[in-house]
Amino acid sequence: MNIEFRTEPLAQLSCSALVVYNFEGSSGPSGTVERLPAEAKALVEELRSSRELTGKTFECTLIHRPPGLAAQKLLVVGAGKGEKFNGGQLRRVAGAAARYLRARGIHDLVWVEEDGGESSAECVQPVVEGAIAADYDADRYRTERENERRIDCLSIGTGGASPSEAAQAALNRGRIIGEAQNFTRDLVNEPANSLTPTILADRARDMASRYGLECQVLGPKEIQDLKMGAFWGVAQGSDEPAKMIVLRYLPSDAPEAPVVGLIGKGITFDTGGISIKPAENMHEMKTDMAGGAAMLGVMQAIAQLKPRVRVVAIVPATENMPGGNAYKPGDVLTSMSGKTIEILNTDAEGRLVLADALTYAKQLGCTVLIDAATLTGAITIALGNISTGVFGWNQEWVNRVLASAAAAGEKMWPMPVDEDYREQYKSMIADLANTGGRYGGAITAAMFVGEFAGDTPWVHLDIAGTRWSNEEKPYLAKGPTGAPVRTLVHLLTNLAS
Ligand code: BES
Ligand code: MN
Ligand code: ZN
Repeated sequence: MNIEFRTEPLAQLSCSALVVYNFEGSSGPSGTVERLPAEAKALVEELRSSRELTGKTFECTLIHRPPGLAAQKLLVVGAGKGEKFNGGQLRRVAGAAARYLRARGIHDLVWVEEDGGESSAECVQPVVEGAIAADYDADRYRTERENERRIDCLSIGTGGASPSEAAQAALNRGRIIGEAQNFTRDLVNEPANSLTPTILADRARDMASRYGLECQVLGPKEIQDLKMGAFWGVAQGSDEPAKMIVLRYLPSDAPEAPVVGLIGKGITFDTGGISIKPAENMHEMKTDMAGGAAMLGVMQAIAQLKPRVRVVAIVPATENMPGGNAYKPGDVLTSMSGKTIEILNTDAEGRLVLADALTYAKQLGCTVLIDAATLTGAITIALGNISTGVFGWNQEWVNRVLASAAAAGEKMWPMPVDEDYREQYKSMIADLANTGGRYGGAITAAMFVGEFAGDTPWVHLDIAGTRWSNEEKPYLAKGPTGAPVRTLVHLLTNLAS
């Protein structure tokens, strides 16, 4: 998608579609409808007073050959109540407009910018992010794709002014972040036969060399030599060689600390292992590497945004298979940390691979650990597909993540961690058991992972619910969401400033 500013006066701007928004319940022109030249504005007013156009969120009204405009079409999109309007809503409204237009074979659109100044620059980033995310469909294996309905060109129409430096930077940020989100979605959507741990590592290496990141991939021998017994326990049941993917972004002008470790669960397929999952919906377990994919997306973004902060991403990648050599319920694994783990359920594999990845992250010098994982079905019972669960003992870092989520328009909700839950994952014969039972399953899973963070500040994001959207949204296709890429990019760029 080509993205640019267009500075012609709105009346003279020739394009397929000019897009403005208005608010619900206003008694006159509102939103960017106010910026339209008189004739077009009068027509929108007429539609509004006849209540054909209400401003309700995502309502789309397409006007052909609008009077007084060189544009072929004018799209008025509803932005909901003015009081509730914010960057998150703007991102979705822009996305809804883009999806509405591309579904009608329109390939170029001009989004009318709010009037000049800094606040206008602030609006550019969510609009660009929203449009790029909206222009994505999970249909790459369909031989007849919806006749390539893509947005080729997104313009921000300034209505005469030349864009400020801040606006240009915002456009660039929006493009980088939107593309990173879609990169993650592509990886999550990829079936397990075309995204093995080896291929995931190749994709990480390609991305790294393209954007100038350091990339290192450990194979089965190194994983065993480093005594990553928990990771290896899961990996040993698969014929596909496991990979530990490490990406480094260590700008020399950044402070020595913090070194942020981003650890993403990379199970390229989770059968459950010997504690095998039921056949129904097992195909969804191709997405069990969504945490890892998100961390690769974040790295792609920061490699371009270049914040002054040190970041290391670590993705333990393997299948969880019931092979002849698979680990079994009752087995005891010795993790890289030395802690021993009794396996009660081989389907609780995520916490095992994360355990060693966290230990390794600390060994590599990370001073803050943030993990993202499709860790538990239990989190979807608690929070549905709407909010990511946020866990951690360090309130300061938990709050930072929550604040970034709010700013980036990704829903997250704090979940408890508490000593009293520890009882649930005690083992009779080892240091820990790998499950804590059904009750509070997302919490005991999180806390199990946290045991391997030790005193290092740690935040865990359970994205089992939010990795995937079960319904098509006006602003987003059904399928992979790219959560929590935007939140973590916001966090890292904000840390630096
Ligand atoms: N990958 C699953 C969790 C999951 C469930 C992700 C649904 C996405 C959608 C994880 O490895 C798992 O199987 N967790 C078990 C843990 C249990 C055995 C303690 C679960 O949630 O049932
Ligand atoms: Mn599992
Ligand atoms: Zn899993």
